[in-house]
Amino acid sequence: MCGIVGAIAERNVTGILLEGLKRLEYRGYDSAGVAIMSGANNKIHNVKAVGKVNKLVAAAAKTKVKGRLGIAHTRWATHGKTTVANAHPHMSGTDIAIVHNGIIENFEVLRDKLIKDGYVFKTETDTEVIAHLIHQTRKSGKVSLLNAVKKIIKKLQGAYGLCVIDRNSPDQIVVARSGSPLVIGVGIGENFVASDPLALSQVTDRFVYLEEGDIAQVGLESFEIWHGGKKVKRAITTIQSTASDAEKGKYKHFMLKEIHEQPKVIQDTLDGRISGNKVLEEAFGIKAKGVFDKVKSVQIVACGTSFHAGQVAKYWLESIAKLPCQIDIASDYRYRDIIVQPGTLFITVSQSGETADTLAALRFANKQSYIASLSICNVATSSLVRESDLCLLTKAGQEIGVASTKAFTTQLTVFLILAIVLARRTGLKPAQEAKLVKELSKLPGLITKTLKLSNNIKKLSQQFTDKNHSLFLGRGIQYPIAKEGALKLKEISYIHAEAYPAGELKHGPLALVDDQMPVVAVAPNNDLLSKLQANLSTVSARGGKLFVFADESIGYKSDKSCKVIHVPNCPDILAPIVFTVPLQILSYYVAINKGTDVDHPRNLAKSVTVE
Ligand code: G6P
Repeated sequence: MCGIVGAIAERNVTGILLEGLKRLEYRGYDSAGVAIMSGANNKIHNVKAVGKVNKLVAAAAKTKVKGRLGIAHTRWATHGKTTVANAHPHMSGTDIAIVHNGIIENFEVLRDKLIKDGYVFKTETDTEVIAHLIHQTRKSGKVSLLNAVKKIIKKLQGAYGLCVIDRNSPDQIVVARSGSPLVIGVGIGENFVASDPLALSQVTDRFVYLEEGDIAQVGLESFEIWHGGKKVKRAITTIQSTASDAEKGKYKHFMLKEIHEQPKVIQDTLDGRISGNKVLEEAFGIKAKGVFDKVKSVQIVACGTSFHAGQVAKYWLESIAKLPCQIDIASDYRYRDIIVQPGTLFITVSQSGETADTLAALRFANKQSYIASLSICNVATSSLVRESDLCLLTKAGQEIGVASTKAFTTQLTVFLILAIVLARRTGLKPAQEAKLVKELSKLPGLITKTLKLSNNIKKLSQQFTDKNHSLFLGRGIQYPIAKEGALKLKEISYIHAEAYPAGELKHGPLALVDDQMPVVAVAPNNDLLSKLQANLSTVSARGGKLFVFADESIGYKSDKSCKVIHVPNCPDILAPIVFTVPLQILSYYVAINKGTDVDHPRNLAKSVTVE
């Protein structure tokens, strides 16, 4: 959470920092701030505003602040309310300004000690202690900024991506990483730092990824990195500009654009991994075969939407690959007494690859007796990918809307490919593989057809606008899809949405059903269809209003109590992916009707890098 940008250049950096913050808004958007050093006396001008980055842009325009060195931050509050005082950068006196991403767990102890030492705290944040600790270490004038940061981080418990400037060292930014991502953007005669390369794609395409425990001093012409007391070299990675991902183009919102990108990004995810009638196992990398040969069971761990992808995958791993599979919520997984069965492959699923709980689960799992760790991830350079033995990248491109859409459907696509590769070891015949691969290759076309339902769903969405509660139902593998549909609706429209396996209706939720609670169901043409229909009739019988997304081949018809939307007929294995799309569209239009901030829903953030 929280986004950081910093710049040192021979030109004014205010615009670069503000543009960087706009691109980082997905990391938090409750307040923002920028600290710029300028003038002959290197004064630090600190401008902050509550709300999204545009509010800060307006505030910065009023002050006309300009300078060649600066740091900036967009916040997702953890400690302290969303006030101007609590917004970053935080200062110690007039000399030191810092921005911080993460949580300092022992800040209260540190703050009490600093108060005894005479420091006055102006904010409710955990971060302010860092600024004062640096000031305290430097005030003798004998310790360099770099050494002060090296010294004080030893006192910090928790997680940080940290950026510091000091008017007494006006030629550098000092940064440190532990638990929160940071990159150095390498320019010519200028350098930058950020929590994500996306923030800097307008100024450079060359990046150095700092590793856990790295500290760096970034100057105009050069930068130096230390790790464990030693100077280290880190490779420069060139990344193609992601500018078009960061533009909405003809779409009103990133979420809508990302929903419509799904046929393309699913095709990108399949490209190079399937060919003719088989999955190309070589595409998984040279280490993969040795690992896949040993797999006897699978443990999946993830958060949010990625967790739902894992829940769907459990069904495929069992039905296609005949492998036992367990799935856990990442924030809980490492706090239970796990028992690792011999031959278990550990899989994390994450769009960002930086989610703190998922990363902590991976680090915990890497110390257990799993045969290997594999990450299914959308960011090749993320911490999760770098710390896993194997990775299967989704090719969704940058996902900006906070509510995940294309990342989810590409995660499912990758899981299907994985299930097929593992199934080869458990008896899947080439002819069966050929059938599955042929079906898989139809997926982009089927999603394109499904997107054509948009206008119908838009009309139907009006019936949700004035509702406060809703129920989503599915059976078997469609239950996680119902959960994902409910999550989308609550995230962006703030309507309470709960998902249930349809067979559970009679054990409680039926008591909630009345004409004020829309009941949404996903009904593909599968073995459980008649059971689902029986469950749904209990809703109609009690005056409930049903909205059923049904495979067009079933012949399900609308009536007074039930509105049916026909979804293109699709093979059984593709149904979870195809049926996700209408639910995404539904939540999008309900949110539009309600006038919420679709791409930046209240209280949420895209990348959750705190526990
Ligand atoms: C946040 C996002 C969700 C996402 C979840 C897990 O809550 O708002 O959209 O599903 O984090 O993120 P990850 O990057 O690990 O998939």
